[in-house]
Amino acid sequence: MKINTFKDPIQVHRAVAKEIIEAIQQRPNLVLGLSTGSTPLGTYAELVKDHQENGTDYGQVITFNLDEYEGLDPNDPKSYRHFMNQHLFGHLNINQKNTHVPLGTGDIEKECRDYEDRIKSAEGIDIQLLGIGINGHIGFNEPGTSFDTYTHAAELSEDTILANSKFFESPNQVPTRAITMGIKSILQAKRIFLIALGLSKAQVIKGMVSGPVSESLPASVLQNHADVTLFLNEEAASLL
Ligand code: GLP
Repeated sequence: MKINTFKDPIQVHRAVAKEIIEAIQQRPNLVLGLSTGSTPLGTYAELVKDHQENGTDYGQVITFNLDEYEGLDPNDPKSYRHFMNQHLFGHLNINQKNTHVPLGTGDIEKECRDYEDRIKSAEGIDIQLLGIGINGHIGFNEPGTSFDTYTHAAELSEDTILANSKFFESPNQVPTRAITMGIKSILQAKRIFLIALGLSKAQVIKGMVSGPVSESLPASVLQNHADVTLFLNEEAASLL
């Protein structure tokens, strides 16, 4: 695991954005795995700024988001599809048809199978961007999730519901289930960038980097991947 530590979040976001922009310049039809939550927002703002100022071309870029809440329509302002349109896709010259977010409504089992097929048809993910939950979840793969999982329906833990309630009016409005790419789907990405910011992530970052590889801390599985880069600010790296 390569660990890049920066003083401030803005430096973290600039470093991640720079890597993504360079990858698009080298491969205009890059397949990019994306994540939600508050952490990648600054990175998305940097990508938008770069697109506006330097015209980086997203015309052929393909994206796959990690997850979506079950039961939320794509037009629902709390859905991850809406989040991505609002913070990233709507500001780039990306073809909406090339942006994939699991559909949280309808036949969930079929959507899980189809999502994996779509990733396969795109010949896999080149760079997967990840955040991390304070309990070590990646995507919505909560502690205890088998390392053998592909895209599947998942039950959210109470910790996660509480943490994600910052995007809702109250915790009881947070959906309790989601569709998420599985651990195996994530590990198939050629490169993985994980961003973590703030003291609240310091403990889990320490466990992920130096603790045992265990399903009780899902992100620890990244120790088994050949090309993972962590982008941390000093607070998130403070226990390393
Ligand atoms: C959600 C997402 C994760 C994300 C996590 C952390 O649960 N499913 O992909 O990493 O939130 O969120 P934040 O960046 O707001 O701490």
